[in-house]
Amino acid sequence: MGEAGRLIALVGMPGGGKSTVGRHLARRIGLPFADADAVIEARLGTSIRSFFELHGEEAFRDVEQQVVDELTLGPPTVIATGGGAVLREANRRVLHERCIVVYLRSAPEDLARRMRHDTQRPLLQVADPLAKLRELYAVRDPLYRETAHFIVDTGKPSVPMLVNRVLMQLELAGLAPASPPAGASSGPRRDR
Ligand code: S3P
Repeated sequence: MGEAGRLIALVGMPGGGKSTVGRHLARRIGLPFADADAVIEARLGTSIRSFFELHGEEAFRDVEQQVVDELTLGPPTVIATGGGAVLREANRRVLHERCIVVYLRSAPEDLARRMRHDTQRPLLQVADPLAKLRELYAVRDPLYRETAHFIVDTGKPSVPMLVNRVLMQLELAGLAPASPPAGASSGPRRDR
């Protein structure tokens, strides 16, 4: 670590805002954005949901591992990972070693509320999504913590507030410019 322009990865539960916060964060610091799930779907040529149905979770995790490896070997980017990416030890390791990892932590109750109309996430197409989210959280929260360098609680703030929280953490650690030029979408770090 030490300079701006590194890979930044967001980890956390599904529905916690990784893609939205990631896209805004990338714009603020002038890095490209990559959504691992979108890269996976482009590669599969179908939705994650139908791939799960046809081939099962392990086959999906294999593709996910390949995509995580490739993205984290690529140029500086803000990466939103899928909520289950931390389940594999290999993913936890490459994410932690190659990226600045931020865990967007959300309570299962907030996630259930935000995703009450979701039809795309295969793991949540169950009778009691809240119970499922609690179960996933119990297993994954320690894995997100192990993978992350920083934790940001999502709670109820707006997306811009959340992006500011993430940026503040990065700035405190000297990993992002303190005040990117307003409206900047790219460009090198300003020397301070
Ligand atoms: C998954 C989360 C999804 C997607 C897949 C599996 C999970 O990503 O990768 O449906 O295991 O939690 P999001 O976290 O972007 O929803």
